[in-house]
Amino acid sequence: MRKLRSLIPTMPLPAWVSTRAQTCARSATLAVALCCAGTALVHAQSGAPSANSADAAAAAAAAASANARPVASNAELLVRGEYLARAGDCIACHTVPSQKMFGGGRPMETPFGTLYTPNISSDKQYGIGAWSADAFYRMLHEGKSRDGTLLYPAMPFASYTKVTRADSDAIYAYLQSTPPVHQPNRPHTLRFPYNQRKLLLGWRALFFRAGEFKPDPKQSVEWNRGAYLVEGLGHCTMCHTEINALGGNTASKEFQGGLIPLQNWYAPSLTSNKEAGLGDWSIDDIVDLLHAGVSNRGAVYGPMAEVVYDSFQYLTEDDVRAVAVYLKSLPGHSSEVDTSPKSPFVTEEANRLAPLGKKIYDAQCAECHAAEGQGKLPNFPPLANNQSIQMNSAVNPIRMVLNGGYAPGTKKNPMPYGMPPFAQLLSDEEVAAVVTYIRTAWGNHGAPVSEKEVNALRSAPLF
Ligand code: HEC
Ligand code: HEC
Ligand code: HEC
Repeated sequence: MRKLRSLIPTMPLPAWVSTRAQTCARSATLAVALCCAGTALVHAQSGAPSANSADAAAAAAAAASANARPVASNAELLVRGEYLARAGDCIACHTVPSQKMFGGGRPMETPFGTLYTPNISSDKQYGIGAWSADAFYRMLHEGKSRDGTLLYPAMPFASYTKVTRADSDAIYAYLQSTPPVHQPNRPHTLRFPYNQRKLLLGWRALFFRAGEFKPDPKQSVEWNRGAYLVEGLGHCTMCHTEINALGGNTASKEFQGGLIPLQNWYAPSLTSNKEAGLGDWSIDDIVDLLHAGVSNRGAVYGPMAEVVYDSFQYLTEDDVRAVAVYLKSLPGHSSEVDTSPKSPFVTEEANRLAPLGKKIYDAQCAECHAAEGQGKLPNFPPLANNQSIQMNSAVNPIRMVLNGGYAPGTKKNPMPYGMPPFAQLLSDEEVAAVVTYIRTAWGNHGAPVSEKEVNALRSAPLF
């Protein structure tokens, strides 16, 4: 079998690492940026029975982090701070790839103009070298800069507000220990009236509640640790929750999946709904996906590949497992899957496109994804029963076929396999046909896609 990586002479980094540079993959729109508020509105809840309610209070106290224990030395504090900064993925937004760490300046495109992330290195003039630990905590906890300026929620403080004071202090100490980058901030170029920070008062009243994570004493230590990471530093809800018309996320739909506007990637449901979410996944599969980037259920791609590359691969297996345990406890909702009977038109479209789709699949795709879509595990992901390609929104599989991709190179999977782009090889109709085929074959329950949808995504930014 042809291994794609053999086509690449040297494989220092997966392809997507160098192509992601131009826009901040974390939240390409202000709407996305705004959406992180949902976390603050919803209280951690669980439909799952307590794993061990006996260890209640002690569990809860220990769970918020390993931070309950006293820090032995400054060196240990710095190591912990670095680890927590990884968990929060500060580097992804505050560093322009291949430039100085934490120097800021990474553009975040929004429909209202461009935000440039600030310098958060230890530089006293341009970074946060002159900030106190109190000011840093207030920034994470309340979303205010040192002088009290309200921050745009493109900085995910609506999630970071859950971070404990001890963890904030560790991140602060670590950032202060990084080399200063003597580089001024680039001013945002937001249009009027979005450049008026006082507008943020209204947004904050609607979508932001400051408050540290409160452990649930009825849940296990592991569950609480996972909840702390997912709802706080991980800021998963920023992408995995639908955005409402006001640019916040719909609290009642937390973790039920959402389209990332402008960037055009769909972040699927993380609840335990069996068809839309992770209900069918084992804990081990979730751990593999998040830690290695590949699993028996699928590989990460697009913005999620960046999350694994910059953040998850550095976490301990225990922490990744805690995240998985927490995700598995998120209750699923029947509303996550469209169960209404398919209109005759939809069935007709699927029937029209599927034969062409099957022909293309057999010729172009089966070599890697196998005849029945079962994949060749773990390097070539399965397409049968793979929920990330069956959502109402078909952007993910369309973009994968157009642009191809690489799973991220991680400690556990340093030589990822790739998929070639088909944008040049296949017409809009052919892409629509093959994507319709993989969304509807082998028991998959996705809807057909049109040539128009394919065409619109030909010009979408890569990352
Ligand atoms: C999704 C992108 C994103 C992530 C992730 C992110 N930031 Fe930010 N951060 C921003 C943006 C954008 C701003 C500027 C907001 C503004 O101007 O109102 C900002 C502002 C800040 C500021 C305020 C700087 C100043 O001069 O006022 C600090 C400090 C900061 N971030 C630290 C962090 C830390 C620490 C982490 C990780 C725990 C982090 N950021 C993660 C996007 C991000
Ligand atoms: C920048 C946006 C973004 C952030 C932040 C993000 N994700 Fe994702 N995630 C995505 C996208 C887009 C996908 C779909 C692509 C894929 O499956 O790799 C995805 C896929 C996933 C999947 C696979 C789901 C499936 O059904 O295949 C899991 C599990 C996941 N994310 C967990 C998380 C967790 C846990 C966090 C927080 C620590 C998180 N994500 C943060 C964008 C994001
Ligand atoms: C050379 C091997 C190869 C070929 C040929 C190939 N793929 Fe892939 N495909 C991969 C790999 C490797 C990944 C994981 C990439 C990543 O994580 O970015 C992948 C990922 C995908 C995904 C995302 C799956 C997930 O994990 O959720 C889809 C959808 C997909 N391929 C569809 C297709 C279709 C349709 C074709 C034919 C038109 C095709 N692939 C041809 C190797 C291949």
